[in-house]
Amino acid sequence: MSEEASPYGVADQITSYQESALIGTAVELGLPNALYGSPKTLDQLTVELGTDSRGTMGLLSGLVAFGMIEREGDAFSLTANGALLADDHPDSIAMISRKEWFFYKLWASMPEAVKTGHTQTRAWRDRLENDPDQAHDFLRALDDLCRLYGGDLPELAGLSSGPPARRLLDVGGGAGSHSANLVKAVDGLEATVLDLPGAEPVLKERHPEIAFVPGDIDQPRFGRPDGETWDYVLVSNILHDHPAEENERIVREAAGLVAPGGSLVIYEWVIDEGRTSPPGVASFTPMMVIENEGGWTWTEAEIGAWIEAAGLEARPVNRGPGPIAVIRADRP
Ligand SMILES: C[S@@+](CC[C@H](N)C(=O)[O-])C[C@H]1O[C@@H](n2cnc3c(N)ncnc32)[C@H](O)[C@@H]1O
Repeated sequence: MSEEASPYGVADQITSYQESALIGTAVELGLPNALYGSPKTLDQLTVELGTDSRGTMGLLSGLVAFGMIEREGDAFSLTANGALLADDHPDSIAMISRKEWFFYKLWASMPEAVKTGHTQTRAWRDRLENDPDQAHDFLRALDDLCRLYGGDLPELAGLSSGPPARRLLDVGGGAGSHSANLVKAVDGLEATVLDLPGAEPVLKERHPEIAFVPGDIDQPRFGRPDGETWDYVLVSNILHDHPAEENERIVREAAGLVAPGGSLVIYEWVIDEGRTSPPGVASFTPMMVIENEGGWTWTEAEIGAWIEAAGLEARPVNRGPGPIAVIRADRP
């Protein structure tokens, strides 16, 4: 052991669920929206939210302790951080809270996921078709996460600017977040998101400037016609949702859509050989185990082998400050 034990530090980690639970509860019940721009008394809040007075006061007490709410006399208001949980805040991260509240409940089944190696939730296609509100909030949250953390993709991908117009297919592009960033960063780039049809409403809401084509990663060529090619094919945050044999196929199909002189761009949580670093990727790994059947984080060598099997040559992984990295492969 390299350092002294810290019971207080570990005790803090043990109880840290309380902070997530109260933030998730507040967003779930609409508390930040009720207080956004308008401080209220406890009685006003319980009427508006339809909640119990003692329960609501308990929630407020905790949220004051966690820095989300402040009290002045009888009035409760949002702190600057608490205001970020309101949907109307221009930099709102309420959707991220909703996504994590879903996982907060799911993670109680982590022992089962670890024992069996199986996901503890429904497949994404099922969620998108049968619980579209929740699935759409999930895609909105990914868009907000991209706004916060995904800005490094254009630089890491290194797509060069300038005419003639080049076309990019964003496979499983969801809300179109990364496509939108790339189009802004690269002159003359035109991007099209390919995703399940159920994802289109969120793309239209969040990034209407990006084109959409319905497609299916499970199908040959993802459903695109024979002969169609793209200058760039982006596969962002897809491989961690699938087991190795699926990924070999996905990378092969994606490579088959790349035009001569074009590139496959994989933006992914690439884990080191020992599977314990970088920390952001290591802590993301159990999420993949519980969320997706066969979900996992992959090493540079594993992704490189799929690229090689697809007939392309991978460039070395390009890491930025964030946990997600680019592996790019060019077709001569
Ligand atoms: C983890 S999200 C990644 C979204 C986006 N690429 C990003 O990096 O934020 C996975 C995406 O793949 C899409 N997807 C899942 N299964 C799919 C399938 N069979 N065909 C097409 N898209 C699919 C989802 O709708 C979702 O947009």
